[in-house]
Amino acid sequence: MNSVFNVSDFGKKFLWGVATAAVQNEGAYNIDGKGLSVWDTFSKRSGKIIGAAKPYEACDFYHRYKDDLLLVKALGFKVFRFSIAWSRILPEGIGKTNKEGIAFYHKVIDECLQLGLIPFVTLYHWDLPQALEKEGGWTSHSMLRWFSRFATVCAEEYGDKVKNWIILNEPMGFTSLGYGLGKHAPGKTGLNNFFPAVHNAALAQAEGGRIIRNIVEHANIGTTFSCSEIIPFTQSEKDIAAANRMDILLNRLFIEPSLGMGYPYGNFQLMDKLHLYNKAWKYTERMKFDFDFVGIQNYFSLTVKHNPIIPIINASEVKAVTRNAPHTDMGWEINAASFYRMLKRFAAYDGVKKIIVSENGAYFKDILQNGVVNDAQRIQYFQDYLQAMLQAKQEGVNINGYFVWTLTDNFEWAEGYRARFGLIHVDFKTQLRTIKSSGYWWRNFLNRK
Ligand code: BGC
Repeated sequence: MNSVFNVSDFGKKFLWGVATAAVQNEGAYNIDGKGLSVWDTFSKRSGKIIGAAKPYEACDFYHRYKDDLLLVKALGFKVFRFSIAWSRILPEGIGKTNKEGIAFYHKVIDECLQLGLIPFVTLYHWDLPQALEKEGGWTSHSMLRWFSRFATVCAEEYGDKVKNWIILNEPMGFTSLGYGLGKHAPGKTGLNNFFPAVHNAALAQAEGGRIIRNIVEHANIGTTFSCSEIIPFTQSEKDIAAANRMDILLNRLFIEPSLGMGYPYGNFQLMDKLHLYNKAWKYTERMKFDFDFVGIQNYFSLTVKHNPIIPIINASEVKAVTRNAPHTDMGWEINAASFYRMLKRFAAYDGVKKIIVSENGAYFKDILQNGVVNDAQRIQYFQDYLQAMLQAKQEGVNINGYFVWTLTDNFEWAEGYRARFGLIHVDFKTQLRTIKSSGYWWRNFLNRK
């Protein structure tokens, strides 16, 4: 599909940005007073990361933030989304703050403002201080207290300069991968970890919103949800039921409590256990917060079939690769029409006022040759997804921003440095940056009138 749209079709006020995250970009994992995060320890011990990669240096944003922000500007973006490493500003998670860590984010924010970039700050992008993980991490009910302290420090420090706040990055991502399946830090598994983690994250999400609202004047507050359209493999009753169960977990589990609806019901016994946590009405109330915007993060659709062998959910994915469906090098199905449908679906919830696509992007095996990365597939991907988003917008969905994942190639969690999502190629040995064709495509797109 060739793009038949212009940047002006999205309106003058539309926020175009790039998104990054502390663990994935900063490096400098143990200097200037920073405490360890769960990713620092998990990457060392777990043996679960491709190439035994560690986020210790990543793309060295900590030392190169000025150059990287110039690149954001040069490509024509208005918004820079980044996260605050909790253990950089509170090395033990609670207790004493670390002056140098706090100063670092002041420098990043000041640099953004000087360049005319709008900082969007994510409070939590998956890097719990290891000191708190020792005390149970997200499974501990003390989490609410710990997270409140972190949010308060951030709001008081940066609230005069930063007005746009994202409380959590994809709570479903870190609770399921980190506390259910053990594929991400801290590597815990099982429902007895997953359920309390979900519940504490749902509470922290709303509480964080309240804290920012109380401290920061004129704040624009959101949180982000991963979403994937779940498509039944066949129209059989069993496949449809399997798709519904998956949908409850992947798409409804966090947004519904945030809107005051409590946890989703559905024909899914698993949820009964979670509802036990929610018996007292006060939880339904406390998991609710009146967010100014909802961040939608979409990377793929999932085709799902009934599978009795898979415990609890009795469902499994029928991979895009095996169905010969278009996919990225991550194996993720490329399906812009499903993105369009998810935007419409999330916008249809009562209480969703505004949507920002706070992440979208793709990994393809880029080749750097003679100083050039010709990533035509990624350009096509963006064209298709932007077209789909424009259609939803023109049909009345209140979308007012889109942030590309991501600026530079970086540490891609369990994939290590293999999966490159950046608009800018990074040579991880030399830290040399090379703008990919997709980066130039964005620059041209954003500068067209
Ligand atoms: C996360 C990012 C991650 C991206 C690609 C999102 O779920 O927020 O941190 O790099 O997906 O996997």
